[in-house]
Amino acid sequence: MNAESKIDFIASPINRLAGELRIPGDKSISHRAIIFASLAEGTSRITGLLNSEDAKATLNVFRNMGVEIIYEDDIATIHGAGLYGLKAFDEAFYFGNSGTSVRLLAGILAAQSFDSTLTGDGSLSRRPMQRIIAPLQEMGAEIFCSEDGTLPIFIKGGQSLKAINYKLPVASAQLKSCLLLAGLYADGITRINEPQITRDHTERMLTQFGGLINRNDMTIEVQPGSLKSTDLTVPGDISSAAFFIVAGCICPGADLLLLNVGINPTRAAVIDIIRMMGGDIEIVRSDETAAEPVADIRVRYSPLKGIAIPEQLVPIAIDEFPVVMVAAAYAKGETILSGAEELRVKESDRIEAVATGLKNLGIEVHTQSDGMVVRGGEVKGGEINSYGDHRIAMAFSIAAINATAPVTIRDCFNVNTSFPGFVESANELGCNISIKTDNV
Ligand code: S3P
Repeated sequence: MNAESKIDFIASPINRLAGELRIPGDKSISHRAIIFASLAEGTSRITGLLNSEDAKATLNVFRNMGVEIIYEDDIATIHGAGLYGLKAFDEAFYFGNSGTSVRLLAGILAAQSFDSTLTGDGSLSRRPMQRIIAPLQEMGAEIFCSEDGTLPIFIKGGQSLKAINYKLPVASAQLKSCLLLAGLYADGITRINEPQITRDHTERMLTQFGGLINRNDMTIEVQPGSLKSTDLTVPGDISSAAFFIVAGCICPGADLLLLNVGINPTRAAVIDIIRMMGGDIEIVRSDETAAEPVADIRVRYSPLKGIAIPEQLVPIAIDEFPVVMVAAAYAKGETILSGAEELRVKESDRIEAVATGLKNLGIEVHTQSDGMVVRGGEVKGGEINSYGDHRIAMAFSIAAINATAPVTIRDCFNVNTSFPGFVESANELGCNISIKTDNV
């Protein structure tokens, strides 16, 4: 498969879903592991790194800057360059589809001695970057993007960064992490206040690499200073597990065991939301003592009911709403999602993409600027545009499970950005998804 391949999924209804699945590495944690190991002094070994296009984007950018990374047999050995050992790259950095890579790396590149240009694919080139540009400029960075606030980003190297106190205008872990990384290079303590709790993988991992970081209520403080290498294991991605959590709930008789899933409480609200809807989800074995808690999750078929999703859970389940709304289509009554305007600026406008897709399958949906109302009903077959968004493609593959006819999902190539092997894994459990490839 290459970037020119056009891939559609045809997902057919099934009547049996059972078995165990080891969930691939967490995407957010994989990015951070590559970043911190590259910036640390010494050699780090990362086990269980996600081998996906987005993680590779981060990996390649560090390789471009001279970091030696050997990636074999599920273990990445990263010889860190130290905070000041990265080398200039004489081309533009290419971040593909990965918002996390470009936003987190901007915080680091803003502090380097060399200039850089940051680019990405069509979807990433439409996403808002002004949210990182403004505070980095306030820190003294010479960083600019195009007039409409999107890529490419240009950074003039050789600037010294000032520590700032910054109130995040949006609940975004990417923005928070960008500024925490820039804070490692600042002249004092950088303080970031977040409006709502967002995933805290950066804070946890910074501590593992010997960084000095502290949380007081909604404010995080980071001190500048060097990092020391460490070895770590990446847990399975709850965002990938979420597809099978919903699959298990909507397929009569289903019984699934999802192994090795990260259940960090700033990340795993999809479990709470689906449980509120009546989902039978059991934490079978958990290790809460690890830097990132992990568990095996058992999911069984359970009739679902619609709920009003509590707004404080939105940032900590932000990537799971495409598949949560599929669960809503199968639930009795209305599910109301609000306070989720960030979904409009993900890999696609996920409010529009989900609503259009569900309507194509015969479900009643009303959209608002910050969410939608889904009325559960009979899910029919039909054709869906994923808009090149991996999570839309996977969510609608799951929607087919108990539909009245097959669902064709267009433009699924980007499933490789977060979950290579999704179709094979789903089919091993009993799904019936076929891949149609047209090389163009
Ligand atoms: C991510 C944070 C989230 C999420 C993205 C990964 C991260 O974005 O949607 O997939 O790894 O920090 P925002 O923090 O911008 O909401």
